This record gives sequence, C-alpha cells and structure tokens, in this order.
Amino acid sequence: ASRIAGVKGLADAGIAMVPGEYRRDSDPRQCVEIEEIPVIDLSDVEKCSPARILAIDSIRSASRDWGFFQIVGHGFPEELMASMMELVHDFFRLPIEDRSVYYSEDSSSKFRMGTSFIPSKETRRMWQDFLHQACYPPCEIAQLPTKPPSYVKISTAYAEAMNRLSKRVLGLFSESLGLESGALEEAFGGERHTMRMNYYPPCPEPELTIGLDAHADPNGFTILQQDTRVKDGLQILHCGAWVPIKPLPGAFVVNIGDQLQILSNDVYKSVEHRVVVNSERTRVSIASFYGPAEDSHIAPMAQLVTDDAPACFKESAYGKYLQSFYASKLDGKAAIKTVRY
Ligand code: SIN
Ligand code: FE2
Repeated sequence: ASRIAGVKGLADAGIAMVPGEYRRDSDPRQCVEIEEIPVIDLSDVEKCSPARILAIDSIRSASRDWGFFQIVGHGFPEELMASMMELVHDFFRLPIEDRSVYYSEDSSSKFRMGTSFIPSKETRRMWQDFLHQACYPPCEIAQLPTKPPSYVKISTAYAEAMNRLSKRVLGLFSESLGLESGALEEAFGGERHTMRMNYYPPCPEPELTIGLDAHADPNGFTILQQDTRVKDGLQILHCGAWVPIKPLPGAFVVNIGDQLQILSNDVYKSVEHRVVVNSERTRVSIASFYGPAEDSHIAPMAQLVTDDAPACFKESAYGKYLQSFYASKLDGKAAIKTVRY
C-alpha cells in the first residue's frame, strides 16, 4: 500500500525523517553555478533568415558542448504550459482513492501512475511520484483519468502541440548536423512520443535523498517544462561538475538522448542529469520524450560515417533498447555503453 501512496503519501503523513531506503551517501544539492546553458530563440527559424542560420549554429554548438539548451520563441502556447502544470498539481491533490486505480509498475503500460523508478526491484528509492502517458502512438482515451475533469482535454492538447514542436526541433537537429532537414525524421522511421509528469513533494531531509538519480535519456531528445515556482531541481553533469538548470519562464529545456548520440555518430552526446528535492514546496516537471518508432533499428547516419570518423555504435532495435533501459536501475550512461563498438 505504501508504494501506491508514493512519496506524496509520506509527505502528507508529515514524516519528519526520510525512510532508510530513500537515503543517499552524500548531499546531492552540492553543485557549482558556473555558466548557464545556452538559450536559443526559435522565433524566426521557419523563414530563410539570418535568425535561422544563427539558431541552427547555436543548436550545433549547444548540442556538442552541453547536450542541453533552453528554447524560447518556440510558439508553444504559454496558457497551455500553465494549464498542464496546474493539471499535474491538481491530479496529485486528488485523494489517493481516486488516484490508486492508475497505479502500475508495468513500464509498458500506456498510462500509469508510479513512484520512484522500479520500486519492486529497488533497494534505493527516489523521492518522486509520476504519471506516464503515451502520446504518439496514443493512449486510449478510456485509459486516461476522468478526474480532474479537464484531464483528457488538456493533456491531449499539450501532447499535440508538443508533437508539432518536436517535429520542428527534429528538423533543426538534422540541419545542425549538416543533413537535409528530413533526414533524422526518415531515420526515425516513425515516432514514439511519450510524456512523464514528475511530481516531487516537499521532503523533510532533502540533503539525504534524491528526486531522480543520475541518468541519460534513452530516447532521441527530450523537451522539458520546468516548474518556474521552484528554483532548484534539475542538475546536469558538465565538465565533471553538477550544474543547476534554473527555470526560465516560458522556456523549455531541450536535451540530447542516446538515440541522437548514436545517429550523430558521437558528434552530439546525451548528458547525465539528476534532480534534487527541497523541503518547502512541491516541484512538478513535464518531460516529453521524442524518439524513433519502437520497431526502428538505429545506427549512425551513413552521411556521418567516414574514414576519419568510423561508426562508433552497432545498430540496435529501439524497442529493445528501451526495454533494457526500463528494466535496469538508473545508472548514468550505462545503456549506451552496451551498443558502443
Ligand atoms: C528528467 O526527466 O530527467 C528530469 C526532469 C526534471 O524533473 O527536471
Ligand atoms: Fe531524464
């Protein structure tokens, strides 16, 4: 039962100490504020303009040097960003009786509520509950929550707008690698777009636990909406140091996943990141994962394999790659090592 109630259940019960299975050895909040990740303006990228060339150049250098950047001027409706954020808060405010029917530990289910990462297998849990939703191919509407009453409407509108934005960003990634704008879309052989809505309630001892252990994303790329009301949360590993990514109102964080690292033949890198929690307020984040169709086979793009840059990765079936990612504990960049030559 405690698993179903999640860490929200622990926070609501007013526990004063973090239970043993949530504890880590060191305080993950220690990090260095060196620089900020690049912020890229997409306002005029659809036109043949200097702004377009600048944006594509910036995407190239940010993807090489950081693996992470923020986008503004992306055209995604701000009201929809705000209402989706509120929807996740509202869902978790529902009594556990209304939410527990969605609880599942099956990572292949198209909609579910969960806690930590793989709670049935973990000896070290994470201070996080979540909702996971398939977007394209979609989840059946009958599987989606009936409460809050606006759940279906808002989440499907968000998924639709995010799908459009993801396709545009995919084209820009293609061009930034010196490829035709449709080259990566073709290599994806279709699409798998899902979202994970992360819910981190206040934690009485944030110095002792972690919201999400260090990992790199297994998909193509991720577009993340941060909670602008909470200062600290996401950190990325940059030049050997953990760097916080401060939320920028109206912006999305974009990061390279393993499939883009493979397709780019190591030109771009997926970067490790983690999430810390706080004792004051709930943090919500909405991660939209965009990637190839599950039955696609992914290998370095032929155009990016040369005598000087031989293929760094073996071909792998994306569906299988995901299955093994979701069956193992979060462990930095362990997944991509299994397909490296
Ligand atoms: C993640 O999805 O890797 C972390 C998102 C976050 O909570 O910032
Ligand atoms: Fe992630």
